[in-house]
Amino acid sequence: MEVIASAPGKVTLFGEHAVVYGKPAIVASIDKRVVVKCRPRSDKKITISALNLSIPGIILTIEREGEIRLETDYGKVLSAVSYIREAIRLTQEHIGINRGADITVSSEMPVGAGLGTSAAVAVSTIAAYSASHGYQLEKKDLARLSWETEKTVQGLASPMDSTIATYGGFIYLKYDGRDFDFESLEDVGDIPLIIGYTRRLYTTGEMVAKVKRLLDSYGEIGWSIVELIGGLVEEAKKMLLEGDLPRLGELMNINHGLLDALGVSTKELNNIVYVMRGFGAYGSKLSGAGGGGVAIGVAPTDKISDIVTALRMIDATPLETSIGGEGLVISSDHS
Ligand code: MEV
Repeated sequence: MEVIASAPGKVTLFGEHAVVYGKPAIVASIDKRVVVKCRPRSDKKITISALNLSIPGIILTIEREGEIRLETDYGKVLSAVSYIREAIRLTQEHIGINRGADITVSSEMPVGAGLGTSAAVAVSTIAAYSASHGYQLEKKDLARLSWETEKTVQGLASPMDSTIATYGGFIYLKYDGRDFDFESLEDVGDIPLIIGYTRRLYTTGEMVAKVKRLLDSYGEIGWSIVELIGGLVEEAKKMLLEGDLPRLGELMNINHGLLDALGVSTKELNNIVYVMRGFGAYGSKLSGAGGGGVAIGVAPTDKISDIVTALRMIDATPLETSIGGEGLVISSDHS
């Protein structure tokens, strides 16, 4: 039976980096998805076709001893393929099967920009592969296997991205380095959010290591920044539930300043952040690991089109999408 699973990307509204050190974070799904199609095979072969991963270029086909077939128009797809391979290996181990499948992955958002595509790839692969072989895994197992996949492929990851890709919506999450707990914030109203992104120069792992070096070398000075971020996330949770957009914006500004102090912003991200504010946003910040990638802002709805135009003028790519939509969706084609 062919199964199609899709999962959303995400933006971190508050608390990135500090979440690695036990502080809470708030993350939201976006209305852009990764879609994975899985058709079981009668042999043990796994083929992966990665299509439309956002940046056009040459088509590359790799065949290694009939094991992996890769059709892509974008180099980054290689990393998406490593997530798929690992996701399948872990799922096979979890279920106790070793069956083959033809897998096709595509994405409505750029891969590797910091929008949580790796977790979305992992969770939809695990869901599609297991369901296509007749196993309905629970959401908590899907999220856990997806987190394991991320940790194995990139060396380090909090459970934030895999949780939001699985459950969607708005999530308040706390992680102590081993275990985590999360709360779905059901009563959040409409948040007019703008996303802009720029080329990413460093991986998440590199940025997390950079923050660790700073904390190791400056002790109390660095730890107080992490503490402050933890405190502002609690306040942001209240403002999010009250729908107080101006205060939410101010808290974003504070969060951005603290992330910049931790050394994870760049000139390009700061440009996006200040252009958003200059064109009427209540507030803005980088979102995710930094080192390039994504910045977000909350703004009055009548300012959004000006901000989008201004972002284009500084060579930042605006992404128009709503936030807080559904998480993993699985559907099957019995034909
Ligand atoms: C990356 O999107 C967010 C970080 O906090 C790392 C993580 O939580 O895995 C920087």
